[in-house]
Amino acid sequence: MRLRPFPVWFGGRAGGQPVGCGMTMEGLSITPASLRDLRPVLHLERVCFGVDAWPLLDVMSALVWPGGIRLKAVVGGRLVGLAIAEPAWSDGISMIASIGVDPEFRRRGIGSALLSRCESLLPGNVVRLTVRADNPPAIRMYERCGYTFFSRLLNYYRDGQAGLVMEKNRTAE
Ligand SMILES: CC(C)(COP(=O)(O)OP(=O)(O)OC[C@H]1O[C@@H](n2cnc3c(N)ncnc32)[C@H](O)[C@@H]1OP(=O)(O)O)[C@@H](O)C(=O)NCCC(=O)NCCS
Repeated sequence: MRLRPFPVWFGGRAGGQPVGCGMTMEGLSITPASLRDLRPVLHLERVCFGVDAWPLLDVMSALVWPGGIRLKAVVGGRLVGLAIAEPAWSDGISMIASIGVDPEFRRRGIGSALLSRCESLLPGNVVRLTVRADNPPAIRMYERCGYTFFSRLLNYYRDGQAGLVMEKNRTAE
């Protein structure tokens, strides 16, 4: 299971506009998610994270937590991606808690676009996230978007897998 959404303790491109570190597909919209999106978000959790999916209460919490950032990616009226983030409070470090894209819609820039849009809404110089060490697609996406290795958390996930903390320092940008 991934860590609970809040607080976060470290826990083919078809034209379109350039967004941050990638290109987005035509017809993609990224807008705030809410509790009204609960059903498709629960489905997305299952198809994206399997046994690591957040349970119902955690998903609801992520969708209503005051101050939290939750963005949905929609294509043709279908919710195909979601990003959850927590803005920095006092330490200047904002956290990306989760990004998931429907398997049918991957490799079209949606994950990168969600990440980039989250970053644009997050305060502080540093954005940090934790990713499974055995998740090369996500690690690659984060690297392409400017994240670098920060630390390794042994036995971080329920199955004993390590977590990699990655961060993007925006001071020099
Ligand atoms: C990780 C994830 C969000 C990426 O979403 P996406 O929409 O496919 O990402 P993008 O299309 O923006 O990919 C950006 C870059 O990341 C890398 N990448 C993404 N998926 C990859 C894969 N399966 N294999 C290799 N590289 C990959 C590529 O460099 C890609 O650029 P390219 O397509 O031009 O080569 C998606 O695979 C997913 O939802 N995975 C399951 C949930 C998860 O692991 N979330 C992250 C941890 S919270």
